[in-house]
Amino acid sequence: MPESAPLIYLDNAATSFPKPATVATAMADFLTHRAVNPGRSGFDLSLDTGRMVDRARQQLDRLFNNPAVDPDRSIFTANATGALNLAIQGICRPGDHVVATVLEHNSVLRPLFMLRKMGVITFDLVACDAGGHLDPGDFARLIKPATRLVIMTHASNVCGTVQHAAEVGALCRGRGILFLLDAAQTAGLISVDMAAMQADLVAFTGHKSLLGPAGIGGLVVGPDVDIRSTSWGGTGVNSSLEEHPGDFPWRLEAGTLNTVGITGLAAGLDWIADRRSGSILDHERGLAEKFVAGCSRMEKVSVHGCATADRGILPPDHLPVISVTVAGRSPEEIGLFLDTDWNIAVRTGLHCAPLAHQALGTAAAGSVRFSFGPFNTDQDVETVLEALQHLAK
Ligand SMILES: Cc1ncc(COP(=O)(O)O)c(C=O)c1O
Repeated sequence: MPESAPLIYLDNAATSFPKPATVATAMADFLTHRAVNPGRSGFDLSLDTGRMVDRARQQLDRLFNNPAVDPDRSIFTANATGALNLAIQGICRPGDHVVATVLEHNSVLRPLFMLRKMGVITFDLVACDAGGHLDPGDFARLIKPATRLVIMTHASNVCGTVQHAAEVGALCRGRGILFLLDAAQTAGLISVDMAAMQADLVAFTGHKSLLGPAGIGGLVVGPDVDIRSTSWGGTGVNSSLEEHPGDFPWRLEAGTLNTVGITGLAAGLDWIADRRSGSILDHERGLAEKFVAGCSRMEKVSVHGCATADRGILPPDHLPVISVTVAGRSPEEIGLFLDTDWNIAVRTGLHCAPLAHQALGTAAAGSVRFSFGPFNTDQDVETVLEALQHLAK
C-alpha cells in the first residue's frame, strides 16, 4: 500500500464522514448572512431564522411520522445522549421500574445506573441472542406493575441488528407503558415511523446517517406523553414568569438553540430527501454484504452478532455495521495496522456498549467495527478485505 493512500473512512456508525457538500455550504451561508437568534426579536433576520428552525422541526415531524402532528414536539438537543437523558430524567419518577436491553449504548445504560444508584428507579435488561436479536416476548416477561418506561435501541451500534420495534411498541401501548426508541443508528437509513411502531418518544442524533454536523440531535415527543422539563432558563417567551413555560417546544428547550447545527441538519435531511427512498441503505448494505462475504472466506476472521455470517450472508435486518475479530490479533492491534499501514479508519473496543459485547462474547477486548456510509465505494471494500487478508495470513 503506497504511503499516500487516500483515507478509507469506515467509522460511519460513530459519525458519518464526509458530509454532503451542501451541509457545509448551508452552514457557512447561515453563519455569514443570517446567524441571529430566532424567536427572541421581531426584526427580519430573527424571523427568518425562526422560519428556518420551524422548517427543520417540520422535516423531523415528517421523517418520524409523529402522530401528534405537532412540529413543536420535535425538540432539539445536542445529540442522542442529550435526548435520551432528557427523556429518561423527564419521565422517570421515584419508585418507577424501567425495562431496557443489553444492546443499549451507555447513553441509556449510564442514566439508568445513575438513577438506580440515587434510589429513584429499578430496571431490568432484556438479553439478546448470539445473532444480536432481542425477543419481544422477553420484554413482556420483564414488565411489572411499576414499569413506566421501556427503552430499546432500534439497531445495535455494535453489530447492526435491527430490532422488532413495532412488536415492542404494540406491547407497551397495550400495557399503558411509554416506549422510548433510540434511533441513533437508524434515523436517515431506515424508516423510523413513530405511528407504525407506536413509539411515544424517539431520540436521534444529527451527525450519523442524517448526515448533519456534530452537536445537534433531538427528541421527538408523541401525543399524551407526560414529560417534565429537566432544565430551566431563557426561552424568549413569557419572560416575566418565574416558572419555565410548559408549552412545547420551550418545555424541553432552555437557552439559545444550536441554529448553525440545525441549519446543517436540515441540509442533511434535504440531501436524503432528494434521493430515492431506500437508495442510501441499498448502497451501504451492498458494500456490507460484499464485506461479510469476503470475511467468510478468511478462516481467522469472525463476524459477531450476525447469524449467517459464516455462510457469507448479511441478513436483511442488519444495518451496514459489522463487528469483526481476527484470531491471534487484538482489536487494538488490528485498528492500528489498518490505520498506519493502509490509512483505513475503523473503530475498535467496546463502542460504548459494554453489555452488548458481553452478550456477543467479545467483552474482553471488544471488536473491530466496520461501518459503511453513502460515500464509500466497492473499491473501499476490496481494499479493506485485502488489508484483512494480510493480517489474517
Ligand atoms: C445506539 C446509540 N445510541 C446513542 C448514541 C449516542 O449518540 P451521540 O454520541 O450523538 O449522543 C450512539 C452513538 O454512537 C449510538 O450508537
